[in-house]
Amino acid sequence: MTEKQLDFIISFHKKLYRQGPGSDEETLKAINFTGLSESTELSILDLGCGTGSQTNVLANHLNGTITALDLFQPFLDELEDRIKSPNVRTFQGSMDDLNFEKESFDLIWSEGAVYNMGFENGLNYLHPFLKKNGVIALSEITWLTNERPADIETYWNAEYPEIDSAQGKIKTLHESGYQLIDHFILSEESWLSNYYGALEMEFAVLMEDHSIEEELKVVIQSYQNEIATYKTFKEYFGYGFYIAKKVN
Ligand SMILES: C[S@@+](CC[C@H](N)C(=O)[O-])C[C@H]1O[C@@H](n2cnc3c(N)ncnc32)[C@H](O)[C@@H]1O
Repeated sequence: MTEKQLDFIISFHKKLYRQGPGSDEETLKAINFTGLSESTELSILDLGCGTGSQTNVLANHLNGTITALDLFQPFLDELEDRIKSPNVRTFQGSMDDLNFEKESFDLIWSEGAVYNMGFENGLNYLHPFLKKNGVIALSEITWLTNERPADIETYWNAEYPEIDSAQGKIKTLHESGYQLIDHFILSEESWLSNYYGALEMEFAVLMEDHSIEEELKVVIQSYQNEIATYKTFKEYFGYGFYIAKKVN
């Protein structure tokens, strides 16, 4: 990907409420599964926070401080415009190169982002940053059926070979030093309306601009292919939301 294409992706994503599938309701559902109480002062890390839709829900339903970390400063600038809370601080950096003290977080959150360092690698890397009995909550691409068409199998094996069933993801959690508290699958609405629907609206406006360069049209086309793949094969894959406790 060229630098121009990356800037383009950031420019239209930062206008969206979410940068990936999800919803405030499902963030809240996952918060409730953590068992963490509003009456406790918590130290929370939100990894790959984007413009902060889930950060806002965390800030509204839990107490303490939230460190919202993302690789891209424009998303953090947008988050700061949207969330005016002294309890939320932003941090520009990469989730696989954290400079925080070990055992410093009660809760590590990451919606649609931990795939950037891989699920298993991420679980192992993040483990020491959680306090004893700390909680991790991650949404991660997941197979929804035991059998599926070869086309979608081939697609995901190329895009993200770590895709697995919920059972497989839970096994990885257990092998990485966590005990599952609960999990659920994100609704289709969270993909189609909250993310892809919003993206399609952005693209409709962008494509009206006939001077848009070929290099950028290619980016839109690749997102349109991704959306079409989801619409065709959505019964076979989705996002699993996994909430688990550190056990050792
Ligand atoms: C699919 S978006 C999800 C954003 C947000 N959590 C949401 O659900 O709306 C993935 C996010 O991860 C961020 N990201 C990508 N690579 C990263 C890295 N190495 N370290 C930190 N953030 C990263 C992206 O900038 C983006 O904001």
